[in-house]
Amino acid sequence: MTEPGVSLLGTGASLSDDEITDLYAVDDRTVGWLRVNFVSSVDGAGTHDGLSGGLGTPADKRVFDLLRRLCDVVLVGAGTVRAEGYGPMRLDDAAVRWRQAHGLPAHPVFAIVSARLNLDPFHPLFADAPVRPIVVTVGSAPEERRKALAGVADVLIAGDDHVDPGRMRSLLADRGLAQVHSEGGPHLFADFLRADAVDEVCLTISPVLEGPGAGRIVGGQPTGIQRPMALAHVLSSEATLLLRYVRDRS
Ligand SMILES: NC(=O)c1ccc[n+]([C@@H]2O[C@H](COP(=O)([O-])OP(=O)(O)OC[C@H]3O[C@@H](n4cnc5c(N)ncnc54)[C@H](OP(=O)(O)O)[C@@H]3O)[C@@H](O)[C@H]2O)c1
Repeated sequence: MTEPGVSLLGTGASLSDDEITDLYAVDDRTVGWLRVNFVSSVDGAGTHDGLSGGLGTPADKRVFDLLRRLCDVVLVGAGTVRAEGYGPMRLDDAAVRWRQAHGLPAHPVFAIVSARLNLDPFHPLFADAPVRPIVVTVGSAPEERRKALAGVADVLIAGDDHVDPGRMRSLLADRGLAQVHSEGGPHLFADFLRADAVDEVCLTISPVLEGPGAGRIVGGQPTGIQRPMALAHVLSSEATLLLRYVRDRS
């Protein structure tokens, strides 16, 4: 299958995987950075038939995969892990070569955020993981489930009833996992926004209208919060737009 052409908006020049990856690289990997990646329809839906995959385009999939190259840890909320049927966090050979050439471990760590710990320790995402995953949870999580998951993952406590994003990031940074890449979902994103923990939002606009019904890329109780963002770049691939926004803290 040929790769979908992706170019900087307005240039028309097709970018290679390395060029796309460079556009998303941060200047200093030792400085903590939380990137989140989402796809939305033109009218703001975060899912089609209950899944983000229904909105994906070949260009979205290409950039989605390339972004995993850059991070130390891929972080996902348990709701998204369950809904999207995540498997082990194993990158393809080209990504592994890229990471090793850039002094990174072959695969990023996979971290799952959950309070209830309704996760099967025998699931392939744990059993077949190339790197021992992390479960980020809370002090009030059910003790038995916590013990069962501790057999297959490193369990980090980052709050009493709710994972505190700042606490979580500092626990990850203590393990050398400063570059955090979150693939969702909407409730986890809302908690990040409340804590002003998001440094970057990568948003694919998929060229479809979904109509009413689907949730947005952010969910939960309204916060009244507005956070300014600066546009870093816009990529395009036919009618798909791939936007990179960074938090404007000026
Ligand atoms: N458009 C997109 O790009 C995109 C991306 C991702 C997901 N999605 C869609 O979003 C839907 C899932 O939505 P969702 O809101 O359930 O996803 P989510 O945010 O990934 O999952 C929510 C769950 O994650 C855990 N969680 C999140 N924040 C937490 C915190 N601060 N402390 C403790 N636990 C926390 C809890 O798990 P426990 O219940 O285990 O305690 C919570 O129930 C799916 O339909 C998926 O397809 C869309």
